[in-house]
Amino acid sequence: MIVSPSLLSADFGNLQRDCEMLNESEADWMHVDVMDGLFVPNISFGAPVIKYIKKHSTKPLDVHLMITDPQRYISMFRDLGADILNVHYEACTHLHRTIEQIRQAGMRPAVTLCPHTPIELLEDIVADVDMVLLMSVNPGFGGQKFIPNTLNKAHRLADLIKRKQLNTIIEVDGGIDATTAPQAVEAGINALVAGSFVFGSADPKQTIAWLKRL
Ligand code: DX5
Ligand code: ZN
Repeated sequence: MIVSPSLLSADFGNLQRDCEMLNESEADWMHVDVMDGLFVPNISFGAPVIKYIKKHSTKPLDVHLMITDPQRYISMFRDLGADILNVHYEACTHLHRTIEQIRQAGMRPAVTLCPHTPIELLEDIVADVDMVLLMSVNPGFGGQKFIPNTLNKAHRLADLIKRKQLNTIIEVDGGIDATTAPQAVEAGINALVAGSFVFGSADPKQTIAWLKRL
């Protein structure tokens, strides 16, 4: 299982310490949530913080853009050190072009779906991305409750990927905990984002190790 702890739940007063903890852990990636206050009703952090995360992290950055018109910022995120760039289906008018530009910039493109967006809309784009990120909460905040219909979407996406003989990664984000993580894995997910479950636990490294073994 790929594990991508979300730094949105880190202690921003001790960001270096939390990055170092993740470096020492079995986490595969570091999930970085960027919010613009427009696409989602919240603002997280921008370039200076991501630069700092990159400086102190030894793992690939799995950057989740919850912003309108993400194509305007592709080169900025490449320069900041993003390895995977997730853009929302709902935020891209010319998704195919945006995906191509992300790949040309040297990053791995991923498309993200809000809970209301059907899997079937990926029919003609899934072959062009390295990963699909399924939101299991409405994006914007950590610590929300997992939306059960995500499991149904994961099954349908796994079927679509199989039918097309692809090896696209399926990642899930939001409300992942000791109950929902095994359910997500059972439904065909290969990568788990976890924020409050990891950082709110008594021993984050052990929680990451537990997720890793699912
Ligand atoms: C929510 C973000 C998530 C968030 C998940 O919009 O995309 O990555 O950090 O937080 P938890 O795991 O606490 O639901
Ligand atoms: Zn996220």
